[in-house]
Amino acid sequence: METLGVVMNGVTGRMGYRQHLVRSILAINEQGGVELSGGRRVRLRPVLVGRSAAKLEAIAARHGIPDWTTDLGAALADDRTTVYFDAQTTNARVAAVTRAIEAGKHVYVEKPTAETLADALALARAAREAGVKNGVVADKLFLPGLLKLRRLIDGGFFGRILSVRGEFGYWVFEGDWQAAQRPSWNYRAEDGGGIALDMFPHWAYVLENLFGGIEAVTARAVTHIEERVDEHGRPYKVTADDAAYAIFELAGGVIAQINSSWAVRVNRDELVEFQVDGTHGSAVAGLRRCRVQHRSATPMPVWNPDLPVTEPFRDQWQEIPDNAEFGNGFKTQWEMFVRHVVDDAPFPYDLASGARGVQLAELGLRSSAEGVRVEMPPITSGVGA
Ligand SMILES: NC(=O)c1ccc[n+]([C@@H]2O[C@H](COP(=O)([O-])OP(=O)(O)OC[C@H]3O[C@@H](n4cnc5c(N)ncnc54)[C@H](O)[C@@H]3O)[C@@H](O)[C@H]2O)c1
Repeated sequence: METLGVVMNGVTGRMGYRQHLVRSILAINEQGGVELSGGRRVRLRPVLVGRSAAKLEAIAARHGIPDWTTDLGAALADDRTTVYFDAQTTNARVAAVTRAIEAGKHVYVEKPTAETLADALALARAAREAGVKNGVVADKLFLPGLLKLRRLIDGGFFGRILSVRGEFGYWVFEGDWQAAQRPSWNYRAEDGGGIALDMFPHWAYVLENLFGGIEAVTARAVTHIEERVDEHGRPYKVTADDAAYAIFELAGGVIAQINSSWAVRVNRDELVEFQVDGTHGSAVAGLRRCRVQHRSATPMPVWNPDLPVTEPFRDQWQEIPDNAEFGNGFKTQWEMFVRHVVDDAPFPYDLASGARGVQLAELGLRSSAEGVRVEMPPITSGVGA
């Protein structure tokens, strides 16, 4: 069986370890590798890279992984590695991915691909000029709830889609009387933090893949919680936005409005939910579930503040069945990328699309700072988008 050497940088982190190493790479090997055209299969050989030898050694021992190093240059110089994967903190991404491209590796990276549009474009251009395959994580598209939503769109359920309303968020503890459940760098702009930079790249690929390209953004990004306590119990000043309230105007006239917040308490069924309203029907999709209301089953509420609510509105929606097995979305996308590298299969989530995600974050923050609506020009700086 063929083997593909994958340099994995950032595997001591939340995403790198759980979703990418354990739930994707190791799970793929457990199932016998990635199936390729003609029934061939390829196994993945991870080479763990990071800053802490002790942490890497512990992970390697736990999972029986022979190859790990703190020397990125050595891992990239090794001819037996073909792919470089990066799940480091965002501010460490560009330098490492640039080195990997220069070493001729195909690159697959977490979002955001960079902190600025200029850097994201430079990365996309460098990959194109070097002729290496490249990809960025677009995991939300592979959530069961959004796969069901795509099924509804493809099946023409909505008629003409009018609007999308997304609600993302949960309370991230301040770190004083209860530990924070996210790393502290997320709350420091100087370390690549901020919810717009974190979440707008997700909204960019979700919106452009399901509803249409983004043409303009109006956003307000704020810092609600101004002081937090870090992993070492030290108070620090929050310098990044922890909530962003945005309106995205899409090609074809769809209006998408998405709230993203780490300072909101959940009164929803899931941590992210999108309501889509169309002329023929509406849907509410979350991570796993998707419920619909067809025009024929739409009630006719009458506004009357003098009477208590007469209708059980939430009960008037119909559950969309799974009708399929939904695997882990990170793993599914890894399999797609491996087929892209080995078999030349298509892979639409390239570094140019990643740059559009960074562009949306940058323009959203500009809209917020200047208090204006900002148009989003197509990326044309030689990355082929
Ligand atoms: N696709 C998703 O749904 C999703 C979700 C969360 C985070 N992410 C992205 O994944 C990346 C990692 O996020 P995370 O939540 O796993 O973070 P984390 O803090 O848990 O992990 C960060 C990793 O980067 C390494 N690192 C390298 N240089 C560093 C530096 N200078 N300072 C600190 N750490 C450094 C750490 O050792 C660690 O392995 C981020 O770019 C983030 O935007 C994606």
